[in-house]
Amino acid sequence: MLYNIYMTLNELQTKLSEIETSINSKLQTCQDTKTLQDLQISALGRKGALTELLKNLKDLSLEEKKLFGPKSNALKQSLTTAFEAKLAELSLKEINENLNKTKIDLTLPAFPFNQGKRHPLAIAQKRMTDILSRLGFVWAEGPLIEDELHNFDALNIPKNHPARDMQDTFFIKNTARKDFVLRTHTSGVQIRTMQKQKPPIRIMAPGRVFRKDAIDATHYPVFNQIEGLYVDKNVSLADLKRDLTVFMRGLFGQKAEVRFRSSFFPFTEPSVEVDVKCVFCEGKDANCPVCRGSGWKEMLGAGVVHPNVLKNCGIDPEVYSGYAFGMGVERLAMFSLNIKDIRAFYENDIRILEQF
Ligand code: PHE
Repeated sequence: MLYNIYMTLNELQTKLSEIETSINSKLQTCQDTKTLQDLQISALGRKGALTELLKNLKDLSLEEKKLFGPKSNALKQSLTTAFEAKLAELSLKEINENLNKTKIDLTLPAFPFNQGKRHPLAIAQKRMTDILSRLGFVWAEGPLIEDELHNFDALNIPKNHPARDMQDTFFIKNTARKDFVLRTHTSGVQIRTMQKQKPPIRIMAPGRVFRKDAIDATHYPVFNQIEGLYVDKNVSLADLKRDLTVFMRGLFGQKAEVRFRSSFFPFTEPSVEVDVKCVFCEGKDANCPVCRGSGWKEMLGAGVVHPNVLKNCGIDPEVYSGYAFGMGVERLAMFSLNIKDIRAFYENDIRILEQF
């Protein structure tokens, strides 16, 4: 509706009361918020009836304006208030109707919420690497598929060593006639680090390793290791004993007893095996299923880095020396969490995993 032709005051006033009656009556019968909003726009919107009518104000005389102006403003005001009241009334009605339609039973208990948690192996690995990093070891990683140089040769592992047997290691034939293996330990990371970096070196190498082991309660063809390497001037077996004792006590408690037995590894000389006093029977139960009555549990292998290994990596063994150690995360986790079968880590039985 356009009122662009000249209108007299009387005509305008008639029009104004027409608008008032018409809008008010429509407002009364309005049943839903959508219609209400459309109605409000058609009355008070930018192109609404009242707005259009008010455009004629400019053609009136001053006296007429004084008369018509307040009147039309009052109507605008009262209509706005009426629309707001009606909107509140209709919205409430619609909310209630919707609620009745959807039938939500607010008294039902909530659905159980399954919160994930860390895998026991991840828990164990984190505890170990946390202690090692407090001892100054920096996280280092390397490839899972390793070449023979890094997995064997540079580590002073001779050609006839059983670890290089097809029965013990997963070999991957490569077209470039260079053999690759699924790494049997993370010691290759130590080689890679020493090739790149000059001492002092203090790294830990956590990660997955692979051996052709038949599966039983303590063996699995895929497992996890953390190896450590410390190379600097004057590093000796004494440093190794001190750091590993601190590590074991961090893991098993300050009272943990640690024993070093001499052993053999091609890449360390001297080599040791590190045992911890059985935390279950403390060496007192001859029938202890965990330590089988021996009172001790073998935890890891370690030793002073063989001079050949340093030489292979371009480090002068006359100037530098180092120690290295390697441990199985599963083995230590089984011992500290009292898990009897290594398969529990990989079978993903939630009843077992959620206990940690
Ligand atoms: N690399 C050895 C293994 O996997 C562990 C080890 C590391 C032993 C370093 C001594 C020194 O069995």
